[in-house]
Amino acid sequence: MASTLDITPVAGALGAEISGVDLSEDLSNAQFDEIHRAFLDHHVIFFRDQNSLTPDAQKRFARRFGTLNVHPYVQGMEGHPELLEIIKEPEDKLNFGGGWHSDMSFLEEPALGSILYGVEIPAFGGDTLFANQIAAYEALSDGMKEMLGGLNAIHSASREYSARGQSAQARQSMQSETATDAPEYEHPVVRTHPESGRKGLYITPAFTLRFSGMTKRESRPLLNFLFEHSRDERFTCRFRWSQGAVAFWDNRCCWHYALNDYPGQRRHMRRATVNGDRPH
Ligand code: SIN
Repeated sequence: MASTLDITPVAGALGAEISGVDLSEDLSNAQFDEIHRAFLDHHVIFFRDQNSLTPDAQKRFARRFGTLNVHPYVQGMEGHPELLEIIKEPEDKLNFGGGWHSDMSFLEEPALGSILYGVEIPAFGGDTLFANQIAAYEALSDGMKEMLGGLNAIHSASREYSARGQSAQARQSMQSETATDAPEYEHPVVRTHPESGRKGLYITPAFTLRFSGMTKRESRPLLNFLFEHSRDERFTCRFRWSQGAVAFWDNRCCWHYALNDYPGQRRHMRRATVNGDRPH
């Protein structure tokens, strides 16, 4: 069947903008399959002018991909616990998500994807960056790949959502719980994507504390190298938001970073997070 969608890559490493679909409508199976294919091929997909995407419609679209996560440390939107309202008021200093991460890697079964909707966008700044962790893995030497293939890492929300953590402090209008005693989960450093079968790095500066069986001090030099490598410009793309735009990223193979470069302005986003499976 001929495609009804227009899919335009936004950068070499990842990201594509899709037009020709209204996500608030009931998608046909063919439309869903095309969007799903683009999501797997491009790792993060963008849609503009989704002005009818109400909270219910956003959840309906997200549920086509899986069950929805209710964040353990951040209170959801009133009447919609599965949606996070990410708001930075003009007087707020910190940004939620202002650090490279993959959503919810601190869970035993981390998020598959996140669907972020732009409710109110600053006149300048507030873009989101994405980094392709499959490309980052593939660019490593064979020796490094082999070594990393035998390693697991410990992930936890304890640092980011502790009282001094960026996400806990960047409360804006969200209510954030502190997570000093948050559990730790072990995930492979190199993860095989459950749908594409491709290998990618699966560690994040926000939530990876150390390698399994090593101290934090022992882990730090290699983690620092990987964190720097993983966000290298050649693996990234950048999305300039507009009101009603949607970004849908694959947390199993992407990092993202919300830029905090719009002082004195308001930014209001709404996120649905789709549950995923245990990394292998
Ligand atoms: C997030 O980290 O989920 C938020 C990203 C953004 O606000 O651009």
